[in-house]
Amino acid sequence: MMKYSLFLSVFLLVGVIFIGSLNVNASCPAFPGYNVTNYQRYPNDIVVELSLLSPGPYGNDIQNAVVHLSFVNAEVLRVRILDADNQRWEISDIINKLVPSNEPFNSLYETKVHAADPFSFAVIRISDGSVLFNTSPTDENGNCLFNGLIFSDYYIELSTQFESPNPNLYGLGERTTQLRLLNNYTYTIFNKDEGTASTPNINTYGSHPFYMNLDSKTGNAHGVLLLNSNAMDIVIQPQSLTYKVTGGILDLFFFMGPSPLQVIQQYTSVVGKPHMPSYWSLGWHQCRWGYRTLQDTMDVVSNYTYYNIPLETIWNDIDYMDDYKDFTSDPERFPPDQYGAFVDSLHANNQHYMMIVDPGISNATGYQSYEDLISSGGYIRDAADGVSPVIGMVWPGFTAFPDFFNPDGVSFWQQQLQNWYNVVKFDGIWIDMNEISNFCSGNCWNIDPAPQPGFDPNFPPYIPGGIQLSDRTINMSSIQSTAYGDVLHYNIHNLYGYSEGVATRRALENIQGTRSTIISRSTFAGAGYHYSHWLGDNKSTYQDLYYSIPGILLMNMFGVPLVGADIGGFNGNSNGPLLARWMQLGNFYPFSRNHNTYNGVPQEPYVFGEQVMNISIAAINMKYTLLPYYYTLFHFAHTQGNPVVRPLFFEYSNDENTVAIDQQFLLGSHIMVSPVLVEDAVTVNAYFPDDTWYDFFSGELMTYSGQNATLDAPLEVIPVHLRAGAIIPTQPTYNYEKPANGVPITTTIARTLPFELIVSLDQGIYAYGQLYLDDGISLDTYENGFYSLIEFELTSDSVTFKLSSTIDTNGYDASHLNIGSIKVYGATSLPSNVVVNGQSITTYQFNNYLLIENLEIPLSETFEIDWS
Ligand code: NOJ
Repeated sequence: MMKYSLFLSVFLLVGVIFIGSLNVNASCPAFPGYNVTNYQRYPNDIVVELSLLSPGPYGNDIQNAVVHLSFVNAEVLRVRILDADNQRWEISDIINKLVPSNEPFNSLYETKVHAADPFSFAVIRISDGSVLFNTSPTDENGNCLFNGLIFSDYYIELSTQFESPNPNLYGLGERTTQLRLLNNYTYTIFNKDEGTASTPNINTYGSHPFYMNLDSKTGNAHGVLLLNSNAMDIVIQPQSLTYKVTGGILDLFFFMGPSPLQVIQQYTSVVGKPHMPSYWSLGWHQCRWGYRTLQDTMDVVSNYTYYNIPLETIWNDIDYMDDYKDFTSDPERFPPDQYGAFVDSLHANNQHYMMIVDPGISNATGYQSYEDLISSGGYIRDAADGVSPVIGMVWPGFTAFPDFFNPDGVSFWQQQLQNWYNVVKFDGIWIDMNEISNFCSGNCWNIDPAPQPGFDPNFPPYIPGGIQLSDRTINMSSIQSTAYGDVLHYNIHNLYGYSEGVATRRALENIQGTRSTIISRSTFAGAGYHYSHWLGDNKSTYQDLYYSIPGILLMNMFGVPLVGADIGGFNGNSNGPLLARWMQLGNFYPFSRNHNTYNGVPQEPYVFGEQVMNISIAAINMKYTLLPYYYTLFHFAHTQGNPVVRPLFFEYSNDENTVAIDQQFLLGSHIMVSPVLVEDAVTVNAYFPDDTWYDFFSGELMTYSGQNATLDAPLEVIPVHLRAGAIIPTQPTYNYEKPANGVPITTTIARTLPFELIVSLDQGIYAYGQLYLDDGISLDTYENGFYSLIEFELTSDSVTFKLSSTIDTNGYDASHLNIGSIKVYGATSLPSNVVVNGQSITTYQFNNYLLIENLEIPLSETFEIDWS
């Protein structure tokens, strides 16, 4: 046994060089990796040069590597490990690059580089000395935990040890999963057309190689992003996490938090803060695969009107197309002139229209879009000759695929969307099948190719997930044209949907001149900066009703807040009680859409009888009533990265009981939703964190705090609670009466109705809230100052109470908006005197809570209400 005695730790940023010792067993690890040949220290950067000690298991090892440890700012560290001699594929150019600060700053972290054999590094939180990331292959007792760095052409491996075993980890999407990651599991990250029908935890449509680690003892969290687009496995074991990546470089970002919310703010500062959604996209959406004709579609809209159910947007699936070809409509079933007129009539009623577009372009003879694609040259090319389009098979049969990395592919896409917009004035686009989904698995003429000699990109030496990478997608050897030159699809498969989303966003902004509304199945880290997402093909089961909650929570953590699951369930048959429960929960999703497959029984809210319909109407009204609050949350998502819906541990991060809760969630930081997720259940067992809570509907003060409670929840009830200390801006829609022959309420009307402020007093008799207003559709309203931000505050000396507003920014003309009523939860008696802007009023009452009504307070001016 040989001992290495030189352990050179470099305490970066604080400028101390420390020499210690470490025992390393020579036969451990099996693949020690690299030694350090040089390092240079710059003010906010360390450069470490590495040389290969011994090769890894798969050959083609990189001889000389270089590590850049960049102190981006006080909260973000970036560590890049590159081939010193050759440029490799890397994706950082499409992510918001943080410009490293040149100013000195007081960092929340320090890093240690182990400069003797083998190379390793550690990231340490300064405040408590906890080691957040540590790639040293041995633990403090010299036990061998994992390999050193392996860096070869098609296989990269790097591990970190956990300071204490089985940490609380979250992230590593996309998958159908519980919220808290398993501590003994291999997570594959590779985009795949994979619904929830199969095993939980396997890789599905999108790639988010980001995790958060929460120490629930201290409440401190940190996050780690591996910015890499190659297929990878991430192996979690009780003591360690190992990245096994099939190419590219290691580009790691560390986010120091310390709160979970700050981790996400820091994460989104790198990958991009979510785009601001159109106001209407927060309304109620109805879709299905199987509205076979324009008449079918119109009948659904008529039924909504007939039953007085709010409908913001009607959608069509691939049914509208002529032989499933994009940018066409079936001349018999969706005659183009009637189709366009129908969409115009929706607009006349303030309703909206979206339809699906798939990336696969049919190669049918004479199909104009295919000819346009070929003449543009902007398609993915087949490796066989490097020139012909790679051909897959999707709904229309054989298809080529635009290459959205190629500017010619982007222009082609914009032109096609423009042509289609000339026929149908769609409001938004639904982009599907963009993993890329291919029914052929690789080459359509050789369904099950055996591995080729040498490097076969469909069968790299290490295959994440263990299945040929071309399974249900195109050949990994296909060629795309990027700014870096030709790149194998192998390297950028996970970015296909993302690149389509970016191209679609640009096209829609050009065509419509407004904010784009794009709902995509495939995503990548940072997708939320450009577009939004639904969770794909779920089933009409209570199990999938539950899975929708961790699904939307995780996407919110990934910076994709406008997200929802198919309400009612996609595959299989829904039924009345299930739909009722799903309508209740789904109208708390940021994106609320009922969607169904072509052979499922209908599941529109009016098909299962009056009780389910009334429950549905109440649920939609709940969403519409809360729209000002949602929209304000989206503003803070857009400007700060804050998730719109959040796990309970975000707000109660040192409450051990919250770490795995994924059957309840918070809307913002104050509204807690505890839905029924079990068939026939009429109660919910809900956890109430240690705080003051009110029933959202009745204002009743709850007696539970830091404990579980069984809540009554008959079919028409979804338990919702309001945390103390909030002022929630709402615009109640329950009493809106639709005009004769008019359509039920839309968001256009809802956002003109009188506001109601719901105030929840905390023990210090204080409450606070904000309201963001803009026109709901123009581009960059915040960036251009065309918005208003109003703050509400309640203060009290426990005898007199004062509720007042401050107008922070006044760039949106809100003079048509009034506050009509105020509810104060936690008030204990009827005041003797209520004064609004200096005038005494009499329109108030006390019944469980204080209700002040018949107000007409202009929102565009500050106000003060006093009572005692
Ligand atoms: C798959 C999508 O996930 C689903 O929502 C859609 O209905 C079908 N494709 C048909 O377009």
